[in-house]
Parts: sequence; C-alpha cells; structure tokens
Amino acid sequence: MERECRFGIEGMSVHVPRHCIDLGTLAAARGIDPAKYYEGLGGRRMAVVSPDEDPVTMAAEAARRLVERHDVDRSEIGMVVVGSETGVDAAKPIASYVHGLIGLSPQCRTFDTQHACYGATAALQLAAGWCIQGNGSRRKAIVIATDIARYEVGSAGEPTQGAGAIAMLVSCEPRVVAFDRHDEAVFTQDVMDFWRPHYRSTAMVDGRHSLDCYLRALEHTWDAYLGSSGLRFEDFRHLLFHVPFPKMAHKAFHRLHELEAARRGVAMPPAEAMFDTLTRPSLWANVEVGNIYSGSLYLALAGLLEQGDAAIEGARLGLFSYGSGCCAEFYSVLVGPDATAWRGRIGVAEALAGRVEVDYPTYVEMRTRSEGMAGDGSFREPVHPGNGRVRFLGVRDHRRVYQAHISPGGDQLRSCTSRACAGAGSG
Ligand code: CAA
Repeated sequence: MERECRFGIEGMSVHVPRHCIDLGTLAAARGIDPAKYYEGLGGRRMAVVSPDEDPVTMAAEAARRLVERHDVDRSEIGMVVVGSETGVDAAKPIASYVHGLIGLSPQCRTFDTQHACYGATAALQLAAGWCIQGNGSRRKAIVIATDIARYEVGSAGEPTQGAGAIAMLVSCEPRVVAFDRHDEAVFTQDVMDFWRPHYRSTAMVDGRHSLDCYLRALEHTWDAYLGSSGLRFEDFRHLLFHVPFPKMAHKAFHRLHELEAARRGVAMPPAEAMFDTLTRPSLWANVEVGNIYSGSLYLALAGLLEQGDAAIEGARLGLFSYGSGCCAEFYSVLVGPDATAWRGRIGVAEALAGRVEVDYPTYVEMRTRSEGMAGDGSFREPVHPGNGRVRFLGVRDHRRVYQAHISPGGDQLRSCTSRACAGAGSG
C-alpha cells in the first residue's frame, strides 16, 4: 500500500431486512414479462422491510455488528454520521438514535448528511477529514448508510426498490480500504431527476431523465478524476458504481468503455468481457437486495471484498457515487491488508442466507403496515417481525419508540425498554 494513503475504512458491516420478494413474483402480479426485471433491470430479488424495521433500526443493526465484530472500543468513537434520504424526523437525526441504541460515549458528534444517494459519500469524506485533523490521535468515526427505497405500487420504479444499511468504521488505520489522496472529482447540477417531497413516503422520478443525469455526472467526474490524478483506465482493478438497479452499473461501465476507446483511438478489448472482470464481481449482493440508495455503492464494495478475488490486497478500486438532484463524485481506494482476512466479518452472505421470501399479497400487506407505522398512535406489537435486535414499535405521543437488545460489554444482552432506550420516548 502507498505510504501517503493512511486514512479510510477500518471495518464494514452490513444489515439487510429479513424478508424479500422475487422480482418474478412482482412481474407476475403486474402482468409483465419477468425477463424485463431479471435481464432488463438486472435484479433478482428486492428486500422488503417489516413493520418493525425502519432506517434507524437498520442503521443500529449494522453499527452494532460493526462494533461487536471489529472489537471496537465504544469510547473511541468520536463521531457518528448517517447518510440517508429516508430520515424519520425533520429535526432529530438518525445518528442520535443510533448513538443511544448502541451505547456510545457522550463525547461524540452525531448528525446526518443528506443528498439523495450521495449522502453516505459526503459523510465518509467528512469523517475522513476529521480523522486526519486529529494529527495522529486515535480518532474514529462510524459512518452509516441506511435507506428504504420505496416507489408507488405499480410504478416503473417499484421493481428497483430495496432496503438495507452499511456501517463503516473510518480511521487512520485503513485495514479494509485506504482512500487515495487525489483531488476531488465532483459534479453538481440542479436537476429534477428523482425527489421525494416531505408529504410523500414514496419517491418520484423522471426515469429516463434520471439515467441521463447519472451518465452525464459519471462522464464529468471520470474525466476530472483522470485529469487531476494522472491515473489511467488500466490503473483500476475494479470499477464500482452507484447501483439503483444492477443494469445501471452495466450502462455506466459501457459508457466509460466508450470514453476510453475514444481517448485511445484504437480498439479496446470487448466491453462485455471487461465488465465481467472489472464490475460484475461487485454486483451479486445488489442483485439480491435492490436499491438501498445511499448504501448501494457501499453494498457493491462490501460484496466485492467479501466474495471477489482473494488476492486483491493493494488493488486500486474506482468508486462512482451518484445522488439525484444531483451531486456525484468519483474517487478511488486501495484495498488494505486485512480486507480479505476479515471478509467474514462484513456479513453480506450471512445476512442474505437467512432471508424469508414473501408472496405478493404479503409484500403489499407489509408495505402498507410499514407505512402505517409512521403516524402517532401506531405503537403496537408488529406483525411479520424482522430478525433484528433493534425493533421499531411505533409512535406514541409523537415519539418514536424502539426496543433494543444490545450488549454494551460483549456477552450479556441488555434489554432496553422503550423508556430506557435513548431516543425511544426520552426526547
Ligand atoms: N426482456 C428483457 N429486457 C426487457 C424486456 C423484456 N421482456 N422488456 C424491457 N426490457 C428492458 C428494456 O429494453 C430496458 O433496457 P435498456 O434500458 O437497456 O434499453 C429495461 O428493460 C427497462 O425497460 P424500460 O426502458 O421500458 O424502462 P421502464 O419504463 O420500466 O423504467 C427505469 C426503467 C426508468 C429504470 C425505472 O425502473 C425507474 O424509474 N427506476 C427508478 C429511477 C432510477 O433508478 N434511476 C437511475 C438513475 S437515478 C439514481 O441512480 C438515483 C437513485 O438511486 C434512484
């Protein structure tokens, strides 16, 4: 690993809801050829949240596993930043709930970042900068991407839904991936490609326009990154993209291939074969989970590290992050020495292994119940409970109520009542 790269991700952990639906089941209910979803969009299944799961519980689950599996000393965490576009409160951040639910030290900054699917990348960059400012002190931050991607029933976006959370430990000991210290390649444009007004629980999207905005931002950031870093196409062992649906990463790779072919002025190896090597190994988990908005790029990273080539240490990965609206960034990381040794701790395959597939009526019932949990007076014992140790019980007196069974010390489980859990009715 290059000497100057000394900050980045020390550990990662993934949480995926317990339930999912096969896209073929959804296609049958819509009277659509399943090949459109399987091949045209590239997905296989999508996660379905239980009524007792929300962006807070998913974030807390991912953070709990991160802390437990990477032997994190809770008192060392000086910052928790949550990137999300499906926040649960206009004022109180998800980070604040998570901080209380997993029992971190009061000497800690907590806040959320929001810019559609770019939110977690903004959080990572910010946390990395804060670690560097520590000038060699053992500053550590937890950055979490957590979202529920939900579109109108029957809309074109519905088969691209999903849900999940990724927690990342950011520090100056980048055992998993170290950030390359190259200039930022960012791109912002005020566009209406995808948005969600405050009064809606489902996103609105100008579908084809959103694809064009994504690809335009990719072109700009790619050119800027190559220009400022001096890196070339062949310097990247893998190219990872924001994955609103897996076929989008395929389109993105093909666009970079076209740009590279034009730059070189000579024939390139076939794009499809290069895609199979450079990008496809990162997509297997996204194919199973669907879009998780702010976490989808990091699910691709986690998937690659967990099941990609074992001899990946030191390899450079290019990452493209896109948030509608829009803000995008291209950056790169170098895989650290412990990435493959710690693969089992990330937990992607493990999270997917225990899932329960639901039929179409159950999917509709679950999303209706889940959306109904947001209103005051919704507090009740959930039907179709998830598998987490943190559960959302509903809203009572305009306060969200959570129940957590988390061990602050390691072995003994602590059972939190709604009163005892921070953020759970304690204001
Ligand atoms: N067999 C195989 N493929 C088929 C098929 C069949 N029977 N029928 C259709 N297809 C293919 C189509 O050819 C098309 O592929 P290409 O794009 O490669 O041509 C693909 O299936 C999709 O079909 P349509 O073009 O008819 O598209 P649609 O109207 O169903 O909508 C969509 C597709 C616009 C992506 C829609 O799912 C959507 O709005 N999704 C949400 C928005 C989104 O994800 N945008 C991405 C960029 S924005 C972003 O990245 C932020 C974010 O996270 C949301």
